[in-house]
Amino acid sequence: MEEKLNEIKALLKKYGQEHLLSHYEKLDDAKKKELLKEIENIDFELIKNLYSKTEQEEKTSEDVITPIEYLDKYKLYDDYKYYENIGKKAIKEGKLAVVTMAGGQGTRLGHTGPKGTFDIGLESHKSLFELLSDGIKEEEKKYQVTIPWFIMTSRENNKETLEFFEKHRYFGHQKDKNIFFFIQGELPMIDTEGKILIGEDGLIKSAADGHGGIYESLLKSGMVKIMKRLGIEWVFIGGVDNCLVKMVDPVLMGIAIDKGVTVACKSVVKANPHEKVGVFCKRNGKPNVIEYSEITDDMAEARDENGELLYGESHILCNLFNISAIERMGSEPLPYHIAYKKAKYMDKDGKIIVPDSPNAYKFEAFLFDAFGEVDEMAILRVKREEEFAPVKNSDDVGVDCPKTARRLYRKYHNLD
Ligand code: UTP
Repeated sequence: MEEKLNEIKALLKKYGQEHLLSHYEKLDDAKKKELLKEIENIDFELIKNLYSKTEQEEKTSEDVITPIEYLDKYKLYDDYKYYENIGKKAIKEGKLAVVTMAGGQGTRLGHTGPKGTFDIGLESHKSLFELLSDGIKEEEKKYQVTIPWFIMTSRENNKETLEFFEKHRYFGHQKDKNIFFFIQGELPMIDTEGKILIGEDGLIKSAADGHGGIYESLLKSGMVKIMKRLGIEWVFIGGVDNCLVKMVDPVLMGIAIDKGVTVACKSVVKANPHEKVGVFCKRNGKPNVIEYSEITDDMAEARDENGELLYGESHILCNLFNISAIERMGSEPLPYHIAYKKAKYMDKDGKIIVPDSPNAYKFEAFLFDAFGEVDEMAILRVKREEEFAPVKNSDDVGVDCPKTARRLYRKYHNLD
């Protein structure tokens, strides 16, 4: 241990992070070990590079952005049935698995506890997790097949998520048979001087590495191996906070199979040209998503000859991947985006600081940055009122909040 400690001290000195051991002596033996292990696992070069980027504006202006083609689910006419039959066959053959990304912090909603445990206020008081589970069970019944469900948590919310599922007996799913949990990657948070923060527990203050961490963690956690063993070829990946998410969609699957693409995504048309959402586009000729902040007013308002917005297809985190695409995307590093956030930490005197304004940088990869790995992908426009009822904000914000999600859910399921 002494030798290791000395090695670590030298490493920290090299990167100007010696403060990470300032509370070391006060920790018990188990925590001491844990801290040293955590430090050993930090990629200090990466942190150094990321810190240097916090000073620069994200550089995207040289990218060439062009519109991307899409299909409208309700304008497929005769092709609808054709694609649907292809998809139905693959689903019945047990080739589809679904993944729910539930590692986010849900800061905007402000719910204490994992977002999936949130009750959106229906008469049934079902949580988001249970609503998703209901959807899967219904499809399993329809297709007479098992649809394995994989849930990504973060180190921060994994324990609570598992306890919740345990308490609810996994909503009838069987752990490690048709429901699986895995933890996403994380990165240390740093302050404005580039110093890694220490958390309340005296260990490294880390945060989940964004929904873009999904590919790598599916691979590293062994989930891809399990999927292959189960005969899975297609994987739907969605967020935990859309209570109308349609994870099993034969038309989307049929399109992907028929067109020979390895990624197929759903979109909904923007509510208005200036809605604050990311939209599908081509970036330097490759599929991508452009954030609303990157788009000029002219681009946001531009329309094609049919009056449709050129950049109007919102990305709603409803994406279908061939397992080969996940393997490819998981082996290539994604760029990290920087967010400036409030983070509770322990200062060098051992005092817990609860900031009331942002004080630390968090680094997140975005799932759609991996889309550039493929030359072509399919985009299917679906109806917002049928498939998109996100719970992002608290009710006082008034949009994408429990109240709006509840209304959409009730309407779609004829509960009024
Ligand atoms: P959001 O980007 O809406 O983030 O995540 P969030 O954490 O839920 O909420 P805020 O921004 O803190 O308010 C979209 C989806 O991606 C998942 C979330 O759980 C949600 O299902 N996600 C996000 C992860 O699984 N891991 C992450 O690191 C980030």
